[in-house]
Amino acid sequence: MSDVQLSHIAKRFGDHAVIHDLDLHVAPGEFCVFVGPSGCGKSTLLRMIAGLEKISDGTLSIGGRDMTRVPPANRGIAMVFQSYALYPHMTVAENISFGLRMSDMPKAEIERRVARVADTLELTPLLKRRPSQLSGGQRQRVAIGRAMVREPVVFLFDEPLSNLDAALRLQTRVEILRLHRQLGATMIYVTHDQVEAMTMADKIVVLSAGRIEQVGTPLELYHRPDNLFVAGFLGSPRMNFLRATLVPDGEAVSVRLAGGGSLVFDLPGTPHGEATLGIRPEHLRLLRSGEKGAGLVLSATVDLAEHLGAETILHLTASDGTALLLRTEGLARETIGDAVQVLVVPEACHLFAPDGRTLLNGSQG
Ligand SMILES: Nc1ncnc2c1ncn2[C@@H]1O[C@H](COP(=O)(O)OP(=O)(O)OP(=O)(O)O)[C@@H](O)[C@H]1O
Ligand SMILES: [Mg+2]
Repeated sequence: MSDVQLSHIAKRFGDHAVIHDLDLHVAPGEFCVFVGPSGCGKSTLLRMIAGLEKISDGTLSIGGRDMTRVPPANRGIAMVFQSYALYPHMTVAENISFGLRMSDMPKAEIERRVARVADTLELTPLLKRRPSQLSGGQRQRVAIGRAMVREPVVFLFDEPLSNLDAALRLQTRVEILRLHRQLGATMIYVTHDQVEAMTMADKIVVLSAGRIEQVGTPLELYHRPDNLFVAGFLGSPRMNFLRATLVPDGEAVSVRLAGGGSLVFDLPGTPHGEATLGIRPEHLRLLRSGEKGAGLVLSATVDLAEHLGAETILHLTASDGTALLLRTEGLARETIGDAVQVLVVPEACHLFAPDGRTLLNGSQG
């Protein structure tokens, strides 16, 4: 097992800076997931670790060895891409062993490794088939097998499941996790998929425009985001944001919503001015008629009810025009056009300063 250390890493394509002075440590055996909007530099960073992109500044070490200028083949790394690009004229066994056959590894050792990888990935019955005779999920397993057979100390995955349908995605996700447990290898995994990030990661790295916004466990990032960007990026459906004004009052601050009403928090030292109140869809609660709740009550109308079976997502418009999402268990009775009362409890709220920094993360969660 090897760790990966990035120190003051930067990447420029000509004059265009894509990664800025980035520091990150991935512990030995850790499953680390990179997330962030399209174009933020996830693939570039992965390719720099693999050695497929030159590192403009800073150093990369793997297992304590400086790898900044070491050629890709000597880094002990294997990468799995979104498009698995298998050789169509070769069998599964030949595809898996291709890289090894190009080296001077003895034939018996190659056969032993291919057999072991095929066994782990349940590809043994398929070894003689060609890629055109495989399903999408089986092809992706062959691509993973091609990486595994090299026995790398670090695996890099760039959106490996995004070409698969929902059922196969789930199945392959479980297989990659099982593989991680079995091999104990360090894995760095790029995804756009919230569920993959939340369920697979030991550690999530949220990137934006070539910089790290926050690093932490999935639940740390979900419940205690450092800023508005992370709060809005993680979570599906996403956190609701309400415009507000801070009016500090001694040890407390009154948060006055643009749409009317206010909440008071024990929070000394906040500045006066604009702020954003955040609340996750599952923390908004519908009040039944006549019911009272301790918190702020918003009036809203239902625009859309998404019935997902186990839960319902209500799309609402508050009286000031703010769009809200509310998640409730089971089948909600509300339908399009209904007027509803929504309770915002202060314990579940997040509060963000005008510059996006988090002032407060609620205790509920
Ligand atoms: N070879 C290149 N030359 C110039 N610019 C590049 C090159 N490769 C990538 N970029 C730029 O670097 C930035 C980061 O690209 P990258 O592919 O790393 O993004 P990403 O986070 O993986 O996005 P996506 O989620 O869409 O895959 C983008 O602005 C992209 O246009
Ligand atoms: Mg990418």
